[in-house]
Amino acid sequence: MKAEIIKMTEDSIDKNSIQRAGELLKAGELVAFPTETVYGLGGNALNARASKKIYAAKGRPSDNPLIVHIADYEAIFDIVASIPKKAQLLAREFWPGPLTMILPKSAKVPLETTGGLGSVAVRFPSHKIARELIRAGGGYVAAPSANTSGRPSPTLASHVIEDLGEAIPMIIDGGQVGIGLESTIVDFTEEIPTVLRPGYISLEMLKSLLGEVILDRGLLKSNEPPKAPGMKYRHYAPKADLAIVEGDIPAVIAAINAYAARASMEGKQVGIIGTEETIGQYPTGIVKSIGSRKDEESIALHLYQVLREFDECRVSAIYSEAFYTPKMGQAIMNRLLKAAGHKVIKV
Ligand code: TXA
Ligand code: MG
Repeated sequence: MKAEIIKMTEDSIDKNSIQRAGELLKAGELVAFPTETVYGLGGNALNARASKKIYAAKGRPSDNPLIVHIADYEAIFDIVASIPKKAQLLAREFWPGPLTMILPKSAKVPLETTGGLGSVAVRFPSHKIARELIRAGGGYVAAPSANTSGRPSPTLASHVIEDLGEAIPMIIDGGQVGIGLESTIVDFTEEIPTVLRPGYISLEMLKSLLGEVILDRGLLKSNEPPKAPGMKYRHYAPKADLAIVEGDIPAVIAAINAYAARASMEGKQVGIIGTEETIGQYPTGIVKSIGSRKDEESIALHLYQVLREFDECRVSAIYSEAFYTPKMGQAIMNRLLKAAGHKVIKV
């Protein structure tokens, strides 16, 4: 199967194509589409067979539950058994937007969609194309990131085409996504709201609204199993060995240059992930800028793209600076540390 690629922008939505995409979803087929976080691989969330197709297309383990996307707040009441006050508060503040909430599921949601769990992940995205598609597809769209399992999440339609271009009937190309990292996941099935996956909406933002919010212990220690089943897999793993070099910037630059020089003496090619401010200071290796430290959102936006680009180069090792930026640093470093298998060199 070769996917039909349909181009549109949020400002000029092609209603006819959205209608056709919606019909595909209603018929149990899969459609990839842009959201404000990353591209999603959509299927009808209330159709067990569509969910199974999603797992098959991604090569994803079936114990890893899917997020159900809605396009109107009221739609949530049909798929959850209850919704605590604090979850309502978060929804009012951050929906539509890059926030996913875990709530007890209603009988309407098949266990195939929730990976066998009694809870369901719900997200109301802000991206206009996503919202139009969800409405056209019947209102409930299960959508994991539109990458094959184990690859970085897609931030451009070309990434989706690379991974799924032969596996699904339609891909909506809405250009580059806005954020570049997956949504923040907050679990409301625990007594204290718990962040299962950090994202654009930070722990501080959640705390300022809800009071006590904790981070899943699996996020803090790499040997503790995380609660979100998907977080236990070594996602986003580049083909080359990736190590993060952490410390004061001048020391980091010196250390990376020493590693690169040694590797090049051994005849090996090295990749380096730096920023606009530092790339000029790495004389050896293939050097890529992830963005600017003055604009942390640019770092989040380009992380997966840079990792994918290095998969195309024949490098045997990648050294990356660390990016503990003030707001999104927790989310950026969560993904980067996983990509590196938690390999950190402190200098
Ligand atoms: O930004 C996003 O959330 C993107 C876009 C497409 O919306 N979607 C996304 O889906 O990142 P996915 O499938 O790649 O990640 C979903 C994560 C997984 O780690 C999964 O284990 C967790 O959410 N999850 C889903 N339902 C859950 C549940 N009921 N309890 C705990 N974790 C859950
Ligand atoms: Mg994913």
